[in-house]
Amino acid sequence: MPDAPPLGALLPRIVTPPPGPQSRRLARALRRYESPGVSTLSSGDAPIAWDAARGANVRDADGNVYVDCTAGFGVAAAGHANPRIVAAVRRQAGMLLHGLGDVHPNAPRLALAERLSRLLPGEENQVMFATSGSEAVELALKTATKLTGKHGVVAFDNAYHGETYGTMAVTARERFSAPFAPQLNARVAHVPYPNCYRCPLGKTYPSCEVACLAPVERAVRRPPRGVGAIAAVIIEPVQGRGGVIVPPPMYMPRLRDLCDRLGVLLIADEIMTGLGRTGSWLAMQHWGVTADITAVGKVLSGGMPISACVAPARVMSAWAHEEQEAPHASTYMGHPVASAAALASLDEIERRHLPERAARLGDYAMRRLREMQQRHPMIGDVRGLGLLLGVELVRGGPGKKPAPDAAGAVVRHALARGVIILAGGAAGNVLTLTPPLTITRRQLACALAVVEEGIAESR
Ligand SMILES: Cc1ncc(COP(=O)(O)O)c(C=O)c1O
Repeated sequence: MPDAPPLGALLPRIVTPPPGPQSRRLARALRRYESPGVSTLSSGDAPIAWDAARGANVRDADGNVYVDCTAGFGVAAAGHANPRIVAAVRRQAGMLLHGLGDVHPNAPRLALAERLSRLLPGEENQVMFATSGSEAVELALKTATKLTGKHGVVAFDNAYHGETYGTMAVTARERFSAPFAPQLNARVAHVPYPNCYRCPLGKTYPSCEVACLAPVERAVRRPPRGVGAIAAVIIEPVQGRGGVIVPPPMYMPRLRDLCDRLGVLLIADEIMTGLGRTGSWLAMQHWGVTADITAVGKVLSGGMPISACVAPARVMSAWAHEEQEAPHASTYMGHPVASAAALASLDEIERRHLPERAARLGDYAMRRLREMQQRHPMIGDVRGLGLLLGVELVRGGPGKKPAPDAAGAVVRHALARGVIILAGGAAGNVLTLTPPLTITRRQLACALAVVEEGIAESR
């Protein structure tokens, strides 16, 4: 039998209808041993078991090859198992697998802190490392409080910032947070996110003059009872898991002005949008805005758990201390292998000009999706920035009734045809594409054609 071509730039090849027997066997075993809380198995989902991934391809345990339009939750921007990242991990793992967190430094941690400090806009940036996006967001919130001495936060409806106790309070998903509500920090005022397709105020851009900023101003000036004085406004530059909602051009600069005028910090949660995905290093750069505190993760290492909260020294000075013990610590903080992976990942993003590539491929995909929208009334809206793309499926024409069943059907159809996509948004009706930024145009074209087929079939 001839050798199978190497994974990376392949088109889908389905040899056994997914999920095949090996995937089913693994899913059955997992259902037995893993908590139902951490997978979609208990809702009757039939996932495929990932066996290998390279570039924009995933191979499942039954030998099926897929084009992955998720990049594993937006992580593998430089391609799955990017050879240079893998080599850096191997090298570092053989030298120093684990360090001593906040007590003794290691060289990759220093190199990465310096690199991030220079890479992100703003002057004399300093960094706090963590392992997950949620932790980086928590560090951003803690930094804001340390600096201002205030405890109130303004966050947005439909936001997703993570599911730890600290982030659940700013995440706006009752489904996740309701059982824990009494334990959560209630010092958060949620305000409408600028969603022009479903304007929370029933207005139209640009004649609205971004009237949706008024609730932010009100919440800062007169925080709801119990919230207390506001330290910061936290925002996703594009709501990702919330359904790829892109604010209108006027919004972010005006939000920046508002925060300056009212003396509150602006926190950008760039865990999903940061480091190239949207076509620029940070999504905030699309609007010429620099946040006071930025959280990055996911793409940072391309596959090892590391994230960072970054802010200018004047903000980070909030953490200055004289005691022997650091006021923040974590066992795996500044992990040497994850830091080495991150340095290699940033090298790859730079060397291969991946933000520019994301912008180019994103333009191409948007053109194709807009053409599709002309053919399929079920596509209510297409939107995105770079290679963060959303297709909102609706029924009933102008009524814009969300069609989560259709989105689910398209996701399943795509999987059967060898394309991995997800559905997101508050109602689960937004097809969400976040492929590796290295995806080839041929792979992307194939994935979009499969998505269109799925939409045509799910009418
Ligand atoms: C915008 C945003 N913030 C925070 C998080 C949480 O990151 P993690 O799952 O790594 O904790 C996510 C995860 O998808 C995210 O999209």
